[in-house]
Amino acid sequence: MMTLQAPEAELSIADLNSTLRDPALETMNFLNEVSARFPDAISFAAGRPCEEYFDLDALPRYLRLFEEYLATEERADGAQIGRTLLQYGRTKGIIHKLLARHLWLDERIDVDPETIVVTVGCQEAMFLVLHALCASKDDIVLAVSPSYVGLTGAARLAGCEVWPVRENEHGVDLEHFVMQVAAARSQGKRPRAFYLVPDFANPSGLSLDLGTRKSLLSLAEQQGILLLEDNPYGLFQADDGSRVPTLKALDTTRRVVYLGSLAKTCFPGARVGFVVADQRVAAGNQRTELLADELSKIKSMLTVNTPPLAQAIAGGRLLEHGCCLVQANQREIAAYRHNMRILLSGLEQRFGNPRLKVSWNTPAGGFFAVVTVPFAANSEALELSARRYGLLWTPMMYFYDGEGGENQLRLSISVLRPAQIEDGLDRLLALVEDSLRSTHAENVRPEPTITPGAG
Ligand SMILES: Cc1ncc(COP(=O)(O)O)c(C=O)c1O
Repeated sequence: MMTLQAPEAELSIADLNSTLRDPALETMNFLNEVSARFPDAISFAAGRPCEEYFDLDALPRYLRLFEEYLATEERADGAQIGRTLLQYGRTKGIIHKLLARHLWLDERIDVDPETIVVTVGCQEAMFLVLHALCASKDDIVLAVSPSYVGLTGAARLAGCEVWPVRENEHGVDLEHFVMQVAAARSQGKRPRAFYLVPDFANPSGLSLDLGTRKSLLSLAEQQGILLLEDNPYGLFQADDGSRVPTLKALDTTRRVVYLGSLAKTCFPGARVGFVVADQRVAAGNQRTELLADELSKIKSMLTVNTPPLAQAIAGGRLLEHGCCLVQANQREIAAYRHNMRILLSGLEQRFGNPRLKVSWNTPAGGFFAVVTVPFAANSEALELSARRYGLLWTPMMYFYDGEGGENQLRLSISVLRPAQIEDGLDRLLALVEDSLRSTHAENVRPEPTITPGAG
């Protein structure tokens, strides 16, 4: 007897969650796909940390150090240590005390470890905060534009609208911030928080000066809005000068929710991040709780707890350096510093002539710089750049929800060697010169695909 095969289950994208049709996902997929198709291209696109100092052999040592910490400082016996590392664990995490020490040593941020939730990367922290703060569809979050795509993605998942606030040479346009808050309120919206990366931002590389930070804190107070400070790059300052304090270090009124990531200061594979949420929440019956505890309730339904083994490895790295991540990252800091210098001087050497119509910003640290070019820096230009010049970068337009960045590239220096940066800049020069030539029809080429931009 013939048996009829049942048809395979097939789903339609139209029936799946609308975030899966988000154009931002498509652009990022395109970037990954182009990077995969041109593996030999020089990539200024990847915002990953350098891999030179990754050390697999250190992992057992880190684990052992964390076990010793549990035994000595937490007075745990063998069975308790085993349970802490291998069993389901504390939702708020097990390296909160070490992170509090790090925050004090590296950032002069003084917080009670109980206000910290250790998360699966900073990405989970963003989602938890947005999900907790946005109670209804009228609740919105403001974010500096151009914005880190992880924030916009997390907001979409949390069902929370994002309103842009313009950047300017001081990092953020405070007037526009106030205007956007007023505009949102006049439309019946409730702005809950303002997200920004005050130090060496992704994607712009910009930082806020001290005056702007203080003004922003007092404006946030006046407006009754929380600030979400995301700080994955703060330790990577390009010079030896004193660092501008973080918003959280300046915060005396629990106005700032601080988002931390160990992806760049430990390694991304551990997927360890955290949030400091020391805000008090009136919980009825005259009880108050910490926002951190509310976030941990959401976390318990999302990832239950951050893998203790990953936390133990990160904890061991912290312990090895007395919880000082500046000390732990001396080699990385020097490498990023050197690379940023090579990039900025290389841009000056090649593009100093105004005839080339190229300009760039000069970040004081971090991984990223933004270059303005005389052609439309879109997906087609990226494809051509990869195919013909062996050069990858990220179109800045990917970081805007709407208009912006049409003629700009984000260049990341984090995974490249100095010689590759020089080589990559030579390729960028060839790309720019060819685009100018094809614009002026001086040289008819078979592939004049780069079209001149608007300005
Ligand atoms: C602005 C910003 N926030 C956070 C992160 C890191 O998030 P995670 O800890 O989830 O890797 C990144 C990494 O690229 C980033 O650029």
